[in-house]
Amino acid sequence: MKFLQLVSLLFFATISFAQQSISEKVDSVLSLMTLEEKVGQMTQYNGFWDVTGPVPKEGDASEKYNHLRSGKVGSMLNVRGVEDVRKVQELALQSRLGIPLIIGFDVIHGYETISPIPLAESASWDLDAIKLSAEMAAKEAAAAGINWTFAPMVDISRDARWGRVMEGAGEDPYLGSLIAKARINGFQGNDLSEPHTIAATAKHFAGYGFAIAGRDYNTVDVGTSTLYNQILPPFKASVDAGVRTFMNGFNELNGIPVTGSKKLQRDLLKQDWNFDGFIVSDWGSIKEMIAHGYAKNNKHAAELAAKAGSDMDMESYAYRNHLTDLVKEGKVSEEVIDDAVSRILRVKFELGLFDDPYRYCDEDRERNVTGSEQMHEAALDMAKKSIVLLKNEYQLLPLEKTNQTTIALIGPLAADKTSPLGSWRIAGEDGTAISVLEGMQEYANQLNYEKGVELTTNQPSFQREVHINETDTTGFAAAKTAAAESDVVVMVLGEHGFQSGEGRSRTELDLPGLQQQLLEEVYNVNKNIVLVLMNGRPLVIPWAAEHIPAIVEAWHLGTQSGHAIAQVLYGDYNPSGKLPMTFPKSVGQLPMSYNYKATGRPDLPGEDIVFWSHYIDEGNEPLYPFGYGLSYSQFSYGDINLTANELKFDGEITASVSLTNTGEVKGKEVVQLYIQDMYASRTRPIKELKGFELVELAPGEQQQIRFTITPDLLAFYTANETWEAEPGEFKLFIGTDSSTKQSVTFNLVK
Ligand code: NOJ
Repeated sequence: MKFLQLVSLLFFATISFAQQSISEKVDSVLSLMTLEEKVGQMTQYNGFWDVTGPVPKEGDASEKYNHLRSGKVGSMLNVRGVEDVRKVQELALQSRLGIPLIIGFDVIHGYETISPIPLAESASWDLDAIKLSAEMAAKEAAAAGINWTFAPMVDISRDARWGRVMEGAGEDPYLGSLIAKARINGFQGNDLSEPHTIAATAKHFAGYGFAIAGRDYNTVDVGTSTLYNQILPPFKASVDAGVRTFMNGFNELNGIPVTGSKKLQRDLLKQDWNFDGFIVSDWGSIKEMIAHGYAKNNKHAAELAAKAGSDMDMESYAYRNHLTDLVKEGKVSEEVIDDAVSRILRVKFELGLFDDPYRYCDEDRERNVTGSEQMHEAALDMAKKSIVLLKNEYQLLPLEKTNQTTIALIGPLAADKTSPLGSWRIAGEDGTAISVLEGMQEYANQLNYEKGVELTTNQPSFQREVHINETDTTGFAAAKTAAAESDVVVMVLGEHGFQSGEGRSRTELDLPGLQQQLLEEVYNVNKNIVLVLMNGRPLVIPWAAEHIPAIVEAWHLGTQSGHAIAQVLYGDYNPSGKLPMTFPKSVGQLPMSYNYKATGRPDLPGEDIVFWSHYIDEGNEPLYPFGYGLSYSQFSYGDINLTANELKFDGEITASVSLTNTGEVKGKEVVQLYIQDMYASRTRPIKELKGFELVELAPGEQQQIRFTITPDLLAFYTANETWEAEPGEFKLFIGTDSSTKQSVTFNLVK
C-alpha cells in the first residue's frame, strides 16, 4: 500500500521519523512532494454519492475518482459513514505518496442524533453542557468516519432576519467567545489524535453575520468599532482555544471579499494571532469573487485567495485548475503554497491520520456509538437546558399531572417529527424527533390533538424553498372545538425546521402563514393557552406576548424535543434558559441588540418633541431583552457591593450580590454582570456583558454571588488601535437580564 511506502520512505530517510516533532514530519513530507501534489492537498472535493455512491463510475465523478488516486485531492466533504469514508480513503492512499484525506462535514448540532440548534444551546448559558453536546457530536461523527467539522459558527449577529442566526451563539461577543471555546474544546478534546475527537472550524471569518438587512450572502459594511469589539472577539477566542481550522466566507467586508482578504487571513489571523492551523474557503467562495466584482476570472480568483492566505479550496476548482500555472508563471510564490500545505499536513498529523488513515473507520464503533443511549441522554439534557420560559401568568405552568385536566394540543408543529430537528442536520433523518404529542402522551391521558392548520404546502428539504400555506383554514373548526372542550390549550406554533438556516432570510418575523389567525381564533374560545414556540431565530410576537398567559420558547431542540418540552410543561424540569438574542417588537427595529451606543440624543425626558433618537410608531425597547428568561422559581437580588470604588491597573475588585430563591421549587438562575464604560476614546455601548454565573438554589436558599473585576475585562479597541482599558468611570450592573437597572460605579485609575 502506498501509504506504507510513504511511511517507510520517511522512516528510512530519517532514521527516527517516529520521534520527530510534527513540524519536522511535515517538513519531511513536504520535501517529497511535487508542486501538483501540493496543490492537491489544497483542494477539497464534495462527496458524490448522489451520483453512483462514493466510488463513481462515469462522467465528472469518474474524473474525481482519478484525481483522488493521483494525489490531486487533499480533503473531501459530505462523505460519511465508515464504508464510504473507507472507500475514498483507499483511493487517496493509492496516490504516489498516499497522503490520507481529511474528511470534513457540517456537524453543526449533533451528527445523526440531533441536539438543539446552536442558538438554542446558547440559551442554556451552560458552558459545560454545551461542551458536552459538542463532545457527543464529535464522538458520533468520528464513529462515522468524519474527522473534521465545519463548526462552530462564531458569527455574531444582531439581525434576526438573517436565517443563520440559528447556527450561532447570538448577539453578544462575550457570551459568544465563551461558547466558541466550549464548543471547540468539546469537539477537539484534549488530544486530537483520539479517535472520538475531531478538528473544529471557526467560521465565517469574518463579518458574515452583519449582512446588510439580514439578507444572506449580502454585503457587509461595518466600522472599526463593530469589527474589533463585536465581530472579531469570538474568532480570537477560538484561536486561543486551539481551534485547528478557520473558514472564510461568502461575504465581502468593507469592499474586500473575505476569501481574498490578506488583511484578515494572513496579517491578522496567521501573523498577529499566531494561528498555525489552516483556512478552508467557504463553498465556492473563491470563484464567487468574480461575481463580487473583485476577480476577473477563476484564475485571478485563485491567485487572490492563495496570496491572501486561503489554504484550501472548497469546490471552486480554482486551485486545482490554476494554482500550478500561477506558480510556474511566478504570480504566486512557492512559499505561499508550502505554507498552506504545511498547515494542512500538520492538522492531518495531529489527527493521527498518518499513523492510521483508517483511525476513524471502525464498523463496530460506528454501530455501537450511533444513536446510542448516551447520545440520546445528552441530547435530552441539552434540550431541557435550552428552553426559555418567556411568560407564565397566574402560574398556568407547570401543568398539573392529574387526569382531571383535559388538554387540547393544537398546532402544525405539535405532532411534527421533522421540524424540531431544525436546519443544518444533514445526517439527521426526517421524522426522527420525538414530537410534543409523543412527549405529552407520556403524561396525559386526556389529550385531544388537532393540527388546526398545515404550515407548509410542500415537503421542504435542505436545498429547497419552504412554501407556506396562506389559504387553507379547513382545520380551524376542529381545533376550536377541541379548545372549547378543554381546560387548557397547548399550542405548538412557529417556523418549519427549514425556515431558518442558510439562504433562509425573512422580512417578516411573525408566526408564518395562518398560525397567528389560528392562535387568535382559539384564544377567542379558550384563553388558557400555553404557547410553545418552535423557531430558529427570534420572532416578533407582540400580540401573543400581550394576550397569551404562558409562552415557552422551545426553538428547534433536536431528536429529544418532545420529551424535553413535556418535562418542562409538566414541571419535571424547571426551565432556566435565557435569551442569547434580543426579541424585537417589530422588524423595523432591526438590527437590534442590547449593547447599542447611546447616541447624542438618547432621550428628551418630559418633552413632547420629536428630535431624539426614536421611532414615531414604535418604542426603542425590545419585546424581550437579551438575557431574559423566567423560571418556576422566583429569585430576588440584594444590593450590589463593591470591595472598593477604585480599581488599579494592576489590581482587582470584587462585586457581589446576594441571590435568594423566594419560590417554592428548586431552580436555576443565570446571574448576569454588565459594565458600561462612561466615556472613552471611542464611544462604548450602554452595557456589555462581562460575566455570568449559573446558580442553582433550593427554595428559600440564599447565596452570595461574586465577580472579580480586573482591567482586562474593561479592555476594548481604542482610538489608538490598541486593545486596552482606559482610565475613567464605569457603571457596573448585576441582575437577571440585560435590562437590569441596579448599578454601582467605580473608577479605573493609573
Ligand atoms: C456553505 C456554508 O456557508 C458553510 O458554513 C458550510 O460549512 C459549507 N457550505 C459546507 O457545507
